[in-house]
Amino acid sequence: MTIIYILYHLWDTLFRRSRTNPFDTATPTLKLQKFSYKELKSATNQFNADNSIGKGGFGTVFRGILRDGKSVAIKKLDAASSLQAEREFQSELTILGSIRSPHVVSLLGYCIEKNKRVLVYEYMPNRSLQDLLFNDGNLNSGCMNWEKRFQVIQDVVMALEFLHNECDPPVIHGDIKPSNVLLDWDFKAKISDFGLSRVKVDRDLSSTTSMRGTLCYIAPEFGGCGYLMEKGDIYSLGVLILVIVSGRRPLHVLNSPMKFEKANLISWSRQLAQAGNILELVDEKLKDAYNKEQVTLCINLALACLQRLPELRPDIGDIVKILRGEMDLLPLTFEFSPSPPSRFYSRSRRKHSEQSL
Ligand SMILES: Nc1ncnc2c1ncn2[C@@H]1O[C@H](COP(=O)(O)OP(=O)(O)OP(=O)(O)O)[C@@H](O)[C@H]1O
Ligand SMILES: [Mg+2]
Repeated sequence: MTIIYILYHLWDTLFRRSRTNPFDTATPTLKLQKFSYKELKSATNQFNADNSIGKGGFGTVFRGILRDGKSVAIKKLDAASSLQAEREFQSELTILGSIRSPHVVSLLGYCIEKNKRVLVYEYMPNRSLQDLLFNDGNLNSGCMNWEKRFQVIQDVVMALEFLHNECDPPVIHGDIKPSNVLLDWDFKAKISDFGLSRVKVDRDLSSTTSMRGTLCYIAPEFGGCGYLMEKGDIYSLGVLILVIVSGRRPLHVLNSPMKFEKANLISWSRQLAQAGNILELVDEKLKDAYNKEQVTLCINLALACLQRLPELRPDIGDIVKILRGEMDLLPLTFEFSPSPPSRFYSRSRRKHSEQSL
């Protein structure tokens, strides 16, 4: 009898363990602090507008100082939160609450009280890439030099490498864009905002949604609905790299004196690549103070990430190697040829990566 009991217990434990992954549970696996609303209110001087550091689609981010003196960023979801806001809050809690990486902004805690939802993050003193590049936050930051921009590109690549290749199961961020790239005191970039992220599970229908991501940064295959896959993040990374190099938004708004063909950053970049003149993309504010080899590599890499067929885009492991100079980028013939030589391309690509191993 005792043996049967022990065997049953053993089986039960093993069976349960084999089905468990860090994202199965509705609660985060890392120890997150549970804050009271009162405590967060006093940390932000009653959610004072003077403490506000940014506003997103579902709420406002405040700078706060906790009782122990620690600076934090506090995201308070709007009172009339939608179902989508609640879903994003839960994703942030379960996904970001389960991972720790020097390339990802840490979630420190949360508050759930009646309909109040608040998230507490590590504070990133140099705010977002959006603020830095476009000075939206009225920061008097001046122009970001090329070294800093190149470092940010490398940091974001390392963050995606962590999410796609080191997390098990892989995490797909789903909303890579400048306002979700935050910078710490020495301008090291980390990615934030996992509200639209999904954990990759085979044939996981929960990753199919009606509309996701941010216009201009979403891959074409998600037009309306589609699976959230790694190559979607790679497409957004391509847009992000072009934005960093050019210092402009992906789509130029009206009333700026810009030639029509330049208005769409992606198609303009493709045109410049065809004409063999990609350096025209570089932010004028940089003048000539940039490394031409690095800039050329980044633009060509971005164009590879922006290929319409997801399978032609490099994966994050290849991107790491390309940036380190351990692997060459393939010439981009497909986007410009009338009939896609896709089979030939993917076969030669496989051969190429085998050679570089
Ligand atoms: N941890 C943080 N440290 C410092 N500033 C932050 C932090 N988190 C967010 N911010 C600031 O708050 C702003 C708003 O962030 P939020 O994530 O709410 O919205 P968003 O990314 O701009 O837009 P969206 O709602 O589309 O994601 C960011 O652009 C950034 O400037
Ligand atoms: Mg954000």
